[in-house]
Amino acid sequence: MSRVAQPRALPPVIKWPGSKRLVAAQLAAYFPAFDRYFEPFVGGGSMLPFRGQSSAIASDIMPELIHLWTTIRDKPDLAIAGYTKRWHARQQSGYTVFYDVRDSFNLTRDPIDFLFLSRTCVNGLIRFNQDGGFNNSLHHTRPGIAPETLARVILMWSSAIQGVDFQVADYTAALGSVTKNDFVFLDPPYESTRGRYQFGSFEPERFYAELDRLNRIGAKWMLTYDGNAGKRTYKVGLPRELYKAKVAIHTGNSPFPRLMKQDPDRVTESVYLNYKPPAASRLNPRENLLTHPVPIAPRIAPAETAR
Ligand SMILES: C[S@@+](CC[C@H](N)C(=O)[O-])C[C@H]1O[C@@H](n2cnc3c(N)ncnc32)[C@H](O)[C@@H]1O
Repeated sequence: MSRVAQPRALPPVIKWPGSKRLVAAQLAAYFPAFDRYFEPFVGGGSMLPFRGQSSAIASDIMPELIHLWTTIRDKPDLAIAGYTKRWHARQQSGYTVFYDVRDSFNLTRDPIDFLFLSRTCVNGLIRFNQDGGFNNSLHHTRPGIAPETLARVILMWSSAIQGVDFQVADYTAALGSVTKNDFVFLDPPYESTRGRYQFGSFEPERFYAELDRLNRIGAKWMLTYDGNAGKRTYKVGLPRELYKAKVAIHTGNSPFPRLMKQDPDRVTESVYLNYKPPAASRLNPRENLLTHPVPIAPRIAPAETAR
């Protein structure tokens, strides 16, 4: 088994809703030893640089995103050239270029169109309409990240994700081959933000059944699932018998930027583990181990209880 090294977080190649980039190193301090790394809600991939030398399977329900990741892994020069071309066209020919690229993306789902849109749209917010069409507008007052800067970021990522097996998959399919010595990092859409991202459906009961299945296999998992932001708490009902420990990680990051501005210090990330946290990870004084480890019980689904 390999032990995970502690590298640094990389600047985002694509800005992703709910990114864990600002807390990635803190989360990685709680990684256990493992054989294979699974990340079935990979999004912007913040945790990937922390997976160590182990083989890794990273997946997401969103095909355009996974195609972007495989392009960055295998053909970084293509991604750089494609962004550079679109960016210069936008500077030279004006705002219509953005809307031409958007129309083109909505027809072809080209991953480099997607990258360009994400880096030049209003506040970098990736947003789709009900028909799955990208519908955010151009950020008129900002040019979008300079091609030379993004080129450096793409090359960093390309090197960091060599060897990662990217798959388009629902999380249950992606986790089908998990075995006892594997580790799964889970960052599903926040329950309270469901419907905002429109990247597929997320049903808590189905998710809990999957956690229960992983527990029965004996695989280890870490889950970031709910949060406190400012005066509001975004609570979820993760059944207590599913996890062994809960950790609160303090961060200025929030999926709710308005609240972040009001009271950034109060934003915390709740992290659930189905294993005892590695001893070294408890040394960080900014984090609290909220729940003392208790044995995990096999889960009885609500349907079984009712019978
Ligand atoms: C909170 S984001 C992950 C963010 C990521 N950890 C990061 O740091 O950028 C959640 C991701 O789950 C994906 N997703 C939603 N439903 C899914 C499903 N049923 N199966 C797999 N992925 C799903 C979304 O497309 C999204 O990329």
